[in-house]
Amino acid sequence: MQGGAASAHAADGAPEEMAAFFERRLDIYEEHQLHAIEGAALFYRRTADFLPASAGAEVLDLGCGTGLELGFYYAVNPTARLTCVDLSARMLAVLREKFARFSPRTVCASYFDLPLGEEAFDGAVSVESLHHFTFEEKVPLYANIRAALRRGGAFVLTDYMEEDEQASRAAFCEKARLLAGREGLYHIDTPLTVRRERQALLAGGFARVREEGRWGKTSLLVAERD
Ligand SMILES: C[S@@+](CC[C@H](N)C(=O)[O-])C[C@H]1O[C@@H](n2cnc3c(N)ncnc32)[C@H](O)[C@@H]1O
Repeated sequence: MQGGAASAHAADGAPEEMAAFFERRLDIYEEHQLHAIEGAALFYRRTADFLPASAGAEVLDLGCGTGLELGFYYAVNPTARLTCVDLSARMLAVLREKFARFSPRTVCASYFDLPLGEEAFDGAVSVESLHHFTFEEKVPLYANIRAALRRGGAFVLTDYMEEDEQASRAAFCEKARLLAGREGLYHIDTPLTVRRERQALLAGGFARVREEGRWGKTSLLVAERD
């Protein structure tokens, strides 16, 4: 959760487990995302432009939270059929209530553990979720996303990325210090650089990756499969 007071650690400075972090801040979550992150008013809307516009398109959303990106996507494609994955049951409950009329399918799981299927989706998206993980964790996930896309499909990644290699490295060092060998998924921002993120997508088997926009520290990458 980039930017602002809401991204601070717990009062005692201890790292917070991922789902618990978001659930503790659920009451301010959408306000923070839309107003404390530079460019949010633009990049959520722009993300929807790169998702399939065809009737009944099957789309996978990884780390969907309460579905901010889906409000914009359903506005352009109300017939889309969404599969929404998140670690937090409470974030998913809000999403289901908000979008009840579209009947999205929700899955409470880690996208690292979930089989995503073979050629099952016309498009995939992830917004402001993957900046907590390493290059090495992302490559196999990106390979799974690619395998889950039908031919000609694309994965739209709108996320916090650094331009400066040193800032990215410093974030990973700080994470290692805070976790001190602890296992599990914790909410600590560790953005890759835009360059490394593109490399991870290409290493996962995507044919081409293009940057379609950058707002503050958020980039929108479109990774295409042939
Ligand atoms: C900052 S929120 C973004 C939510 C939504 N995409 C948006 O932009 O409003 C990050 C979300 O990613 C989820 N998340 C983080 N790691 C995850 C994982 N490994 N598997 C599934 N969800 C994850 C969190 O639970 C949280 O809801």
